[in-house]
Amino acid sequence: MSYNIAIDGPAGAGKSTIARAAAKEMNLIYVDTGAMYRAMTLFMIREGIDLQDTEAIIKKCREADITIRYQDGVQVVFLNGENVNAYLRTEEVGHAASSYVSVIPQVREKLRELQKRLAAESDCIMDGRDIGTCVLPHADRKIYLTASSEVRAKRRYDELTAKGEACDLKKIQEDIEERDYQDMHREISPLKQAEDAVLLDTSGMAVEEVVARVLSICQPTPLDHCSRE
Ligand code: DC
Repeated sequence: MSYNIAIDGPAGAGKSTIARAAAKEMNLIYVDTGAMYRAMTLFMIREGIDLQDTEAIIKKCREADITIRYQDGVQVVFLNGENVNAYLRTEEVGHAASSYVSVIPQVREKLRELQKRLAAESDCIMDGRDIGTCVLPHADRKIYLTASSEVRAKRRYDELTAKGEACDLKKIQEDIEERDYQDMHREISPLKQAEDAVLLDTSGMAVEEVVARVLSICQPTPLDHCSRE
């Protein structure tokens, strides 16, 4: 049986940075499930689907073959055979994923199957919104990673200004709060802390501190081996 760690939390909480670093340290695969929802959304946009037309998305999603491979330890998302990593992290795709595509049960079902299969095949750290609650309810460790919307907005602002992009801190915070609302209030698999997840509020913490804390929570113990034999 594989060893699975579930990390959930709102947008901008640093899940991917932390999960990637912890996965490297623990020699596990890092599975970014947000990228799968983004790939499905990219497919809909490219196919010219009206994102408000739920029936059209349900029908079209059957044609999307999303697979994951690892190249030099980096997750690469393939959409119908094409490496689409470079197109996933735009505001347009993130916003549409959150508002229109991830709210559809048929889409979630399809991606959940892929996520479950990956977790069954490999020891991994998987991050997302519903990993501890729905995808891997029996994960060996669960962490709910969060930070205040002010802190998350400021981190994003610093990231963008470091890249030379002009941006407005207040607008970023508003967008983050809107995304939180959508993720937490959708009918199916909303973002919420699993009852057995450890809550980690990273608002006042440096990345290294958070990684160290995650590692201390996640290192397998002899008991883990016994319970899996
Ligand atoms: O983590 P991210 O920003 O890349 O995710 C993009 C969107 O995908 C997010 O707003 C909600 C959705 N998502 C989801 O519904 N369930 C997941 N397990 C991961 C992401």
